[in-house]
Amino acid sequence: MSRVRVHNLSVSLDGYATGEGQSLDAPFGHAGTRLLDWFLRTRAFRDVHGESGGETGVDDAIARAWGPGIGAEIMGRNKFGPQRGPWEDHEWTGWWGAEPPFRTPVFVLTHHPRPSLEMEGGTTFHFIDASPHEALRRAREAAGGLDVRIGGGPSTVREFLAADLIDHLHVAIVPIVLGRGVRLWDGCEGLEERFRTESVTTPGGVTHMIFSRP
Ligand SMILES: NC(=O)c1ccc[n+]([C@@H]2O[C@H](COP(=O)([O-])OP(=O)(O)OC[C@H]3O[C@@H](n4cnc5c(N)ncnc54)[C@H](OP(=O)(O)O)[C@@H]3O)[C@@H](O)[C@H]2O)c1
Repeated sequence: MSRVRVHNLSVSLDGYATGEGQSLDAPFGHAGTRLLDWFLRTRAFRDVHGESGGETGVDDAIARAWGPGIGAEIMGRNKFGPQRGPWEDHEWTGWWGAEPPFRTPVFVLTHHPRPSLEMEGGTTFHFIDASPHEALRRAREAAGGLDVRIGGGPSTVREFLAADLIDHLHVAIVPIVLGRGVRLWDGCEGLEERFRTESVTTPGGVTHMIFSRP
């Protein structure tokens, strides 16, 4: 059976995976880029976006596990964009430009489905109103035997954790305090009992925690 994986999910010391006040100009709200700075510096990030340069090292080595073996992604509607409620227009195609880095089918969970969007480079966004089990069934079907990534945001990851559908969870704990936003861990009491946990802190100060099935 293919595995369900989360990678590079960045949280602040106080447990927030995004800030407050998401808008078109601020995908992470008041957090700005602070949660992702460690990742933006890596060569892995640059590679995925077709750019040269970037740091190598432990953060890079861990970050690049994001891509291999993945055949589909599931993401929440707020990762795809800042809109809420019914779509007012269908112009918005996500934060990532004409050629998003996913290069697989991507299932966007929303209570407001809209027609699929085929992008350049192999990404197709499908907008579905589905339970975690049903979304995973569809993603697995599209993934052709490969693994399925749960791409975030925190509400969606929490939903899949609550349904006990995640096999591998990589959380990058970033040494910042956000104070407000959307928290990852709420309702996850006792999570550690379901997983083997390992962690490593890198020289940049990020603690990578891996929760994997025993
Ligand atoms: N820290 C990180 O590494 C990281 C990673 C990814 C994203 N992010 C950030 O996290 C934020 C988004 O996270 P979030 O927790 O606010 O939201 P989210 O998980 O991206 O999306 C939640 C929304 O998805 C829809 N949805 C979720 N489950 C559904 C289901 N089963 N059926 C139908 N619709 C469903 C609902 O939208 P509707 O009801 O409106 O349709 C819900 O309000 C963004 O700021 C993004 O940039 C951070």
